[in-house]
Amino acid sequence: MATIYIENVPYEVKDGQNLLTACLSLGFNIPYFCWHPALHSVGSCRLCAVKVFRDAKDTRGHIMMSCMTPASDGTRLSVDDPEVKEFRAAVLEWLMINHPHDCPVCDEGGECHLQDMTVMTGHNYRRTRSRKRTFRNQNLGPFINHEMNRCIQCYRCVRFYRDHAGGRDLNVFGIHDRLYFGRFDDGALESPFSGNLVEVCPTGVFTDKTLRRHYTRKWDLQTAPSVCVHCGLGCNTIPGERYGMLRRILNRYHEDVNGYFICDRGRFGYEFVNADKRVKSPLIRREEGQGIASFDAITAEDALDRLQVVLNGASGIIGIGSPRASLESNFALARLVGPERFSSGIAAKEHDLVATILSILRNGPARSASLHDVERSDAVLVLGEDVSNTAPRMALSLRGSVLVQPMKAAAERLKIPLWSAGSVKQACQDDKGPLFVATPGATGIDDVAAVTLRLSPDDITRLGFAVAAALDPSAAPAVGDLSEDLKAAAAGIAEALQSADRPLVVSGTGCGSKKVIEAAGNVAWALCRRKKDAAISLVVPECNSLGVALMGGASLEEAFKQVQSGKADTVVIMENDLYRRAASSTVTELLEKARTVVVLDHLANRCTEKADLVLPVGTFAETDGTLVNAEGRAQRFYRVFVGTGDMRAGWQWLDSSAGREKAWETLDEVDAALASAIPIFEPILHIAPPAGFRVQGLKIPREAHRYSGRTAMKANINVHEQAPPVDQDSALAFSMEGYQGQPPSALVPRYWAPGWNSVQSLNKFQGEVGGSLRGGNPGRRLIEPSGNSDIELLREAPEAVERPKGRWQIVPLHHVFGSEELSVLSPGVNELAPTPYLGVAEETAISLGIGEGDSVTLTVGGVVYSLKAKIVEGLAPGILGLPVGLPGTEKCDLPAWGEVTKAKGTGKVSIDG
Ligand code: FES
Repeated sequence: MATIYIENVPYEVKDGQNLLTACLSLGFNIPYFCWHPALHSVGSCRLCAVKVFRDAKDTRGHIMMSCMTPASDGTRLSVDDPEVKEFRAAVLEWLMINHPHDCPVCDEGGECHLQDMTVMTGHNYRRTRSRKRTFRNQNLGPFINHEMNRCIQCYRCVRFYRDHAGGRDLNVFGIHDRLYFGRFDDGALESPFSGNLVEVCPTGVFTDKTLRRHYTRKWDLQTAPSVCVHCGLGCNTIPGERYGMLRRILNRYHEDVNGYFICDRGRFGYEFVNADKRVKSPLIRREEGQGIASFDAITAEDALDRLQVVLNGASGIIGIGSPRASLESNFALARLVGPERFSSGIAAKEHDLVATILSILRNGPARSASLHDVERSDAVLVLGEDVSNTAPRMALSLRGSVLVQPMKAAAERLKIPLWSAGSVKQACQDDKGPLFVATPGATGIDDVAAVTLRLSPDDITRLGFAVAAALDPSAAPAVGDLSEDLKAAAAGIAEALQSADRPLVVSGTGCGSKKVIEAAGNVAWALCRRKKDAAISLVVPECNSLGVALMGGASLEEAFKQVQSGKADTVVIMENDLYRRAASSTVTELLEKARTVVVLDHLANRCTEKADLVLPVGTFAETDGTLVNAEGRAQRFYRVFVGTGDMRAGWQWLDSSAGREKAWETLDEVDAALASAIPIFEPILHIAPPAGFRVQGLKIPREAHRYSGRTAMKANINVHEQAPPVDQDSALAFSMEGYQGQPPSALVPRYWAPGWNSVQSLNKFQGEVGGSLRGGNPGRRLIEPSGNSDIELLREAPEAVERPKGRWQIVPLHHVFGSEELSVLSPGVNELAPTPYLGVAEETAISLGIGEGDSVTLTVGGVVYSLKAKIVEGLAPGILGLPVGLPGTEKCDLPAWGEVTKAKGTGKVSIDG
């Protein structure tokens, strides 16, 4: 600790910080622009000036940039010295000279850091009459709106986009006094993290184009703490609603999960909530309906009566749960049908992969890594997982991890503080720490990898086993017939992991291979046997894959068998489009064989078309619940608004059904029942304050105190103001009335503090800047390592697999935009999603005699796909890639072997799996 003196009062601060961070952590208001807690200091805007004194006798002092000055023991400074205040006001005035002062029409208005800093410094009158500098704006694609005239040249955008996120297509161009931050040409920003510019930019240069299409003023948004549902990482978010429409998503800081940034799928995938395909009232199939399904809307009461009749008359019911539904809804279904008739709703192959992941995390000695752990790792091996497309936020953390070793070395060698971003960058140049990426195809982190290996899933497995054997030959099996190249690579990887302080292994379900996941487990366990503090991160496909796996239940195919064998005649499907998980013919056969099909979902899909009764459930924005992310962390999401229609949470529909006594009145009661039925879920009772929690007798308002129009917004229905809906499931209120101070971290619905209207007010919610939230980080880990590092490794190394002549292995290719079921319904995401194609490496295309754009027919597991060939750089030789999750390729059992034959005379190629 160091003692610094601010206005002659001593304060204890952490060693090694800069003065700006220390002062903000202590609660002082110092204006700043270019400094960012995750991007650190470059000292370019000159706004964070303070006056620093040599010693107690020094009365003159000198002006210094607080973001560039260490908070060393004995430092004396003044924040409020008149000279320094005048200096900051002058800086602000010159930064504002060319600003258009267009706050009333600016999308950033009301939560603008530039507005806040202008007010804070006291600059309130434009003296210059000079003509303002203007620029042409660019079309940056569907996510980001560009308004360059508002720029104050803080450089935050390029520092985030290029230095932090590795983007290449946004840059700064300059001539004389004209600096331009944009692309060389108009076009969609390429980085899947471009949305963070909205929060990083301190003014309105880069704003949310999706919000712009249905704009509302920021203080008029109703908000609640939430969790992203578009991959398995569980990033924390703040969705905002107005007039029953979800309008935007902001990052919600979580030190251990997403930190300050989320990916564009998470930020811009929300518009499925507003989709035309939403089911908003219960539907019952018309008795006479033949051919195209036709339904009648019925009331909730009638739907419950109907459900009761169906369930009472059933000779056997199976419940098909879902990895995209909450723990509570899955549990309610399992309770309704009984554990032996509950299915996780996951197809057998993926079910097995997730079970393998769970077993590695629960039984092994390696800790499951949080994203924060990933970012701090100093040597990483990625086996088989294209994280940039399956778990994009992790790719950003891995980019951070490659800087850990070089930054540490540079800081020690040159004695520069790690927060001095410019110096660190200068010292490290292009040095990168050890990141090894072994995947079938190119990934978005290849540019920062020390070594990339393009291998088939089998060879990735063998490489993993060889690394484990190199780490601990006594425990891991040797791998026979390994090529000299792979032997050398395995030895190099083992050495780098062994000499690291915090080695990490990353894998997951992405390439569809259980062996690859086991190989990753073996490497992590071998490291633990060598007494390393090793971590493992295993990516799962959906927001609650791990949660539903922890709950148990059979695979989807097992559930199908119960209907096919006549043991069950009624199927209840919870938030699950089965056509994305099993072959269409199998699902159709199942749904037609069942006497009655009940579907609970928020979107119309092929399953709802086949249902006898459809019950509308709310999305993540209209219900409360708990999700378990890939790390094993249970997190609570809260209703943002009460949706129109008769929608409820899945557990609410099922609890009221079957003529039972209503078991649960509130979410807390469901959680209590879940924790008592399945003890591993006990920590969910502590992830958030209960519904009865109050501060000074008050609930936490979802609406800001500046919320406007409350008395008028429903005047078309009734001129008298209507009472807000009652929320009995949480301590949050659908109101602007309630406790206006800082609530417990799990209940923070927005960031705001006096004088701080932008997201930068987050500083006021953290114990110390960049650290944990006040009151601790939300959520609880459900899975901890076994603690036994003497674990037996998997002994059976796979044999080398020769590619049979004329046969090719088809692997899944994932796309950040397009492969995920819900986000692709958002227009912006949909615009960037590819159409299905067959990915072929150039040399493979030559040997197959096909070229870019040729029509090909692919048969995998009896399913026929008509596709265009696409030359894909970086695919392993002998490998063909099929993008998964796109319309028409939702369900593919990959990897699989296929045969290639060229149809004579047509130039077409047919590939039979
Ligand atoms: Fe310190 Fe910009 S914040 S110079």
